Amino acid sequence: MKGPEGHVFACFHPVSGPLDLTLLSEPPVTAEEAAAVAAEAEQKAEELAEKIELTKAEATDEAEATEAADATESADAPEDGKPEASDAAAEADDAATGDAKDEAKAEEKAEAAAEEADAEAAEAEAAVVAKATAVVEAAEAEAVAATVATPREESKAAPAAKASRPLLEVVDLVKEFPVGGGAFSRNKAVVHAVSGVSLSLGYGETFGLVGESGCGKTTLGRMIVGLEKPNSGRVTLDGTEVGSLRGKALRRHRRDLQMMFQDPYASLDPRMRVGAILREPLQIQSIGSAQEQMARVSELLDEVGLPKSALERFPHEFSGGQRQRIGLARALALHPKVIVADEPVSALDVSIRAQVLNLMKRLQASHDLSYVVISHDLAVVKYLADRIGVMYLGKMVEVGSGQDIYERAAHPYTAGLLEAIPVPEPELERAKRGGGIKGELPSPVAPPSGCRFRTRCPLAQDRCAVEEPAMRLFGDGHAAACHFPLQTPVSDTPVTVATPAGTAE
Ligand SMILES: Nc1ncnc2c1ncn2[C@@H]1O[C@H](COP(=O)(O)OP(=O)(O)OP(=O)(O)O)[C@@H](O)[C@H]1O
Ligand code: SF4
Ligand SMILES: [Mg+2]
Repeated sequence: MKGPEGHVFACFHPVSGPLDLTLLSEPPVTAEEAAAVAAEAEQKAEELAEKIELTKAEATDEAEATEAADATESADAPEDGKPEASDAAAEADDAATGDAKDEAKAEEKAEAAAEEADAEAAEAEAAVVAKATAVVEAAEAEAVAATVATPREESKAAPAAKASRPLLEVVDLVKEFPVGGGAFSRNKAVVHAVSGVSLSLGYGETFGLVGESGCGKTTLGRMIVGLEKPNSGRVTLDGTEVGSLRGKALRRHRRDLQMMFQDPYASLDPRMRVGAILREPLQIQSIGSAQEQMARVSELLDEVGLPKSALERFPHEFSGGQRQRIGLARALALHPKVIVADEPVSALDVSIRAQVLNLMKRLQASHDLSYVVISHDLAVVKYLADRIGVMYLGKMVEVGSGQDIYERAAHPYTAGLLEAIPVPEPELERAKRGGGIKGELPSPVAPPSGCRFRTRCPLAQDRCAVEEPAMRLFGDGHAAACHFPLQTPVSDTPVTVATPAGTAE
């Protein structure tokens, strides 16, 4: 196709419209077109089949009629008188020969017609098969496209239903980091990294966590997998409170919670070969013999699409995408139930991102995994997550499905985040109301009173400074914490842990 001034490109579905639609080859059959052609071909085949039946019936009628006429003729012939008899016999012979000829002719005719019709029918059938294949292929292509474009809440109804009993429950987690002041200073400042965050994760579900840099996403993720000890709050996995476990039981339980890091290069020991990196968790947990561990390592490489030769290589010998595959393989080594993926594709370029995200999805289905995916990129979270949690300055401000968040955001911060996503069309970009969130994130050392978002919120009122808003339900599983929300809540009763269905206190 040709674009403006010598700009030519080879693409059936270009991003911007071409000036000249001269095609270099036949365009692909769309599902509708293929279906129409197939229907037409099927009708033709039916008509031909009818025609065959008719021709055969006609031929049979003709033959029967001839037979009947012969019988009548021979019955009418006189029995006495030789000449007459011989004449009659000769006539009968002739007639019989003629009849036989006629019959043979009729049969031949019928056969020829049937053959012709059969050939036509076969042709039509072939056309039907070809078009049906095209329909299936087009439908498959459409399904693939839909899988890529469809938000998870539409494509993954089953896990959402399964999630009615949470696999993971995080209740009121708090993490404060002491900063500044000397070691013996009484007035140490505290970073309020995570301030009472609750969430739940269903079996096979993906929970996406979004929010600005510094809002506490990584700290929350690290507390979930046990890499950071919370000041208060609890994490419950499969009915067992992780904080109550000690020693061997804790070590056993930790297998079920793994983390995938943003920068796979930093998280992989550069002095270790990939084989040793992948084997390490199995050795630490004393799982299997050396031979079994090596077999598992090979299996892991297969699962993430890396060649066996990777075993002997060092992390620096791989591309970013391959390193993230190694990180994913390591997270999978112990057959975990939950993987917390912290910015899994932020360090990768766009084309590699899709590969890693699709690999994560594939492995989730084959390993019955649940993910907590942390990202500042709303598109990544929308693509992967069944439900999304929006964090602001150490607090969870809104939780809901992708549709809740994208189409009926209740919290002004969520709406601001969505406004900040650039739109490729200049007119739509100009038509945006607020253009995102204004101002800087306040210091987590001294967060604002009341609603932490109030210093940047366009809807803030006096009440927002003195009273912290509680989470309220705005629909099934959709909750937000705001005194003056953008949507009408379904109930004013505060909710605590936002389970897939929401739990009223
Ligand atoms: N070990 C620590 N000591 C002191 N402060 C910390 C520590 N770890 C995190 N913080 C602070 O806690 C807050 C939350 O940090 P965190 O890394 O969880 O944010 P984040 O949402 O993951 O940000 P980003 O998107 O940039 O990764 C930040 O203000 C950070 O400076
Ligand atoms: S509670 Fe007030 S300040 Fe906070 S988001 Fe709602 S309107 Fe804005
Ligand atoms: Mg982080």
